[in-house]
Amino acid sequence: MKFAALCLAATQAAQAAFTWNSARFGGGGGFVPGIVFHPTAPGIAYARTDIGGVYRLNSDDSWTPITDSLADTQGWHNWGADALAVDPQKPDVVYFAAGLYTNSWDPSPGAIFKSTDRGATWTSAPLKFKVGGNMPGRGMGERLAVDPSNSNIVYFGARSGNGLWKSSDAGKSFAKVDSFTAVGTYIPVPGDTTGYNSDIIGLSFVAFDSTSALVNGATSRIFVGTADNTTASVYVSEDAGKTWSAVPGQPKRFFPHKCKLSPEEGALYLSYADGAGPYDGTSGAVWRYDLKSKTWTDITPVSGSDLTFGFGGLALDAKKPGTIVVATLNSWWPDAQIYRSVDSGKTWSVLWKWGNYPEMIYYYGISTPKAPWIRKDFLDVDSKWLGWMIESFEIDPHDSDHFLYGTGLTVYGGHDLTKWDSIHNITIQSLADGIEETAVLEVASAPGGSELLAAVGDVSGYTFAKDSDLGTSPKNVWDGPKFTSTGGVDYAGNSPSKVVRVGNDAGAKMVALSTDGGISWAIHGGADTTNNGGSVAYSADGDIILWSTASGGVVRSQNEGAFAAVAALGPASVIAADRRNNSYFYAGSAGSFLVSADGGKTFAKSGTLTGATAIRDISAHPAAGGKLYVSTDAGIFYSEDFGKSFAALAGNLKNTYQVALGRGSGTGWNLYAFGTGSNGARLYGSADGGSSWTDIQGGAQGFGSIEGARLAGSGNVANKVYVGTNGRGVFHGVGALVGGGGGPSTSSSQQATKSATSSSSSKSVTSSSSVSTSSSTLISTTKTSSAPPPVQTAGPYERCGGSGWTGPTACASGYICKLWNEFYAQCVPK
Ligand SMILES: *[C@@H]1O[C@H](CO)[C@@H](O)[C@H](O)[C@H]1NC(C)=O
Ligand SMILES: *[C@@H]1O[C@H](CO)[C@@H](O)[C@H](O)[C@H]1NC(C)=O
Ligand SMILES: *[C@@H]1O[C@H](CO)[C@@H](O)[C@H](O)[C@H]1NC(C)=O
Repeated sequence: MKFAALCLAATQAAQAAFTWNSARFGGGGGFVPGIVFHPTAPGIAYARTDIGGVYRLNSDDSWTPITDSLADTQGWHNWGADALAVDPQKPDVVYFAAGLYTNSWDPSPGAIFKSTDRGATWTSAPLKFKVGGNMPGRGMGERLAVDPSNSNIVYFGARSGNGLWKSSDAGKSFAKVDSFTAVGTYIPVPGDTTGYNSDIIGLSFVAFDSTSALVNGATSRIFVGTADNTTASVYVSEDAGKTWSAVPGQPKRFFPHKCKLSPEEGALYLSYADGAGPYDGTSGAVWRYDLKSKTWTDITPVSGSDLTFGFGGLALDAKKPGTIVVATLNSWWPDAQIYRSVDSGKTWSVLWKWGNYPEMIYYYGISTPKAPWIRKDFLDVDSKWLGWMIESFEIDPHDSDHFLYGTGLTVYGGHDLTKWDSIHNITIQSLADGIEETAVLEVASAPGGSELLAAVGDVSGYTFAKDSDLGTSPKNVWDGPKFTSTGGVDYAGNSPSKVVRVGNDAGAKMVALSTDGGISWAIHGGADTTNNGGSVAYSADGDIILWSTASGGVVRSQNEGAFAAVAALGPASVIAADRRNNSYFYAGSAGSFLVSADGGKTFAKSGTLTGATAIRDISAHPAAGGKLYVSTDAGIFYSEDFGKSFAALAGNLKNTYQVALGRGSGTGWNLYAFGTGSNGARLYGSADGGSSWTDIQGGAQGFGSIEGARLAGSGNVANKVYVGTNGRGVFHGVGALVGGGGGPSTSSSQQATKSATSSSSSKSVTSSSSVSTSSSTLISTTKTSSAPPPVQTAGPYERCGGSGWTGPTACASGYICKLWNEFYAQCVPK
């Protein structure tokens, strides 16, 4: 937030920043690859996510997001957190490695961010290479570690063959450790042309031996793990990082995921899997390494034909040396397994076992009061209760009962872990409240109808019926039918309780209708299995659906009849319905604007958008038929004659993305848009029909890339707006916007009132603070870029389907897509 604060100061004059909060989904909604407790200071813990930033734990089990300021449109990849470290000597210090992809989807190098106030503000040190917070192997680690005896020393194990990096100035800068030559050569799918699965996984962990002697004030013994199962995967330095060698006698074949030190025992514990994770793993091991005798002991809890998974999360009870918990990385059926040993791994007990098959005996109870939808739409419909993708299982170093673990969906945990040893029965809850890490694919707010309709990737979607519901986790996701991912949602302007949504699963019926504002749903009577994905527009009276599919062009259905192609519109057309006149639909197709006056049957080219080559969004006025706003690469155009003629807005933003209308003060309607204005590329609001624009995003709130962010003005609450992000759920903002009644401004004499207040160069302001030089360097080297394109082919063990999956459904050669259950299909060898 360091640079955000600078930005704020420089641009204050044009800001009327709204107050931003998350719509509470309450259960995470995505993969939590890493959780880190502070080893010496009670009550401090962080969770890192792959696309939704970093969170700090509160004493009431909730989490506070601490990286919202970092992912503005320039630094959009900063919500990818590939590693996290605390400073054992300084409870307020936390570091994380930021960046999303090491392939072309992320054009910019990564950075190591540092906070000295538990995430309230940040500085950063740029790296010369990319960081892969959403890449394979992101649950290994932690790859980032601070010397427990020297706060100046921080190590980072890089991907892509970049080796080991070290900071000797407490994270201000990092330099390569040339004496460490291993790079972690494993590549999951060498031939993957997207680069996603064909990059070198790299180093997997850095672990200091705090019991070793100091050399010049630095911990002498350091272990580094690599993703390499052909030479060696665990290296050690005995001279504080000067020289390194492979640890003798170490296990082969698998990749180390976690390495934890038990200081009292003088031992390391390591979990291994035969894949880099997070989706894979068909075998693995758990090993104990005795630091004194330098001997390895295989303590894998299962063997033989029972060993069908790798191991991920591994926890040591700091207060009870010899007590260990280890989790399966992925045991897709019937469920994950978690093992506990109180004798240093000699014997293990389980969290469930088979009774009289298929009966399962559970040594735990599980509930999800903080996120009721997890119970209803995941646990009650699936045998996988403990979860999947368990790369992090942690026991609070100050409380043997307190545990947390991350899964592909949420964070689970509880407060009675030692009951495992007494009555062999523990209580598990979803404990991800405050973590919001969903990819939001569409948002809508219906005047007179549901306040927020959020179409979401991986967890279907949510309805918040009223404004007062925004702080309450929904009882269910969009179900009956549940699409894993919902791409589009729209309401009928004259009949707002009618809602339509379209889902992304290939091969199933992907249109659902609601007549109660998105509370309950039914499959559309005319839906077939040929189409999926894309966006949807509902006619004003709610009898006609226009669907711009991702699978093949635009289709139309009336009165729940069969869908038929709309020949005039090309693939990926931008579509919208007039909110008042049931006959009108609008579309942007191949750079042209088209209008239908016959309920979407035929479209004809209409009004000209001077200077525009790309139509990005169309927003029809919620209250007035024939009035609409069209967002383009040349800014926003306005029509009040059903799209026959257009004028550019008087005080136009440049290069705009989504545009939306929402209730303003009084009877007026505000305009909201993502685009480039006087404060740079961000979210603006206008209360005078687009004559003047105010930066309502403010310096402390990022939305990731504005190109992909979704936008809806509230249909019911004055001066409220919704932003759907690619990774941080839905934000709602409320504030004061002043101006006219939202009427059109077609007169060129109306000038923007704010244009002279500031320049967009404020992001490159440098500061005199000791570390901000690197921070500003980072910013100036980070370029705005479009959101990553989808992967075309899923690699070995990658996900390839399951209800509503939006990613690739084809597998790399030699693999077939196997549906494990309704929710998850995986590429497995043919
Ligand atoms: C290394 O791991 C890969 C992926 O599991 C596997 O295909 C390969 O056989 C392993 N190599 C060795 C030498 O164990
Ligand atoms: C453990 O407790 C849960 C919840 O109270 C219960 O459902 C389960 O049956 C118990 N397990 C055993 C083996 O008693
Ligand atoms: C909708 O537009 C059509 C065609 O221009 C017109 O005939 C009709 O009266 C309009 N309906 C409403 C309700 O305004």
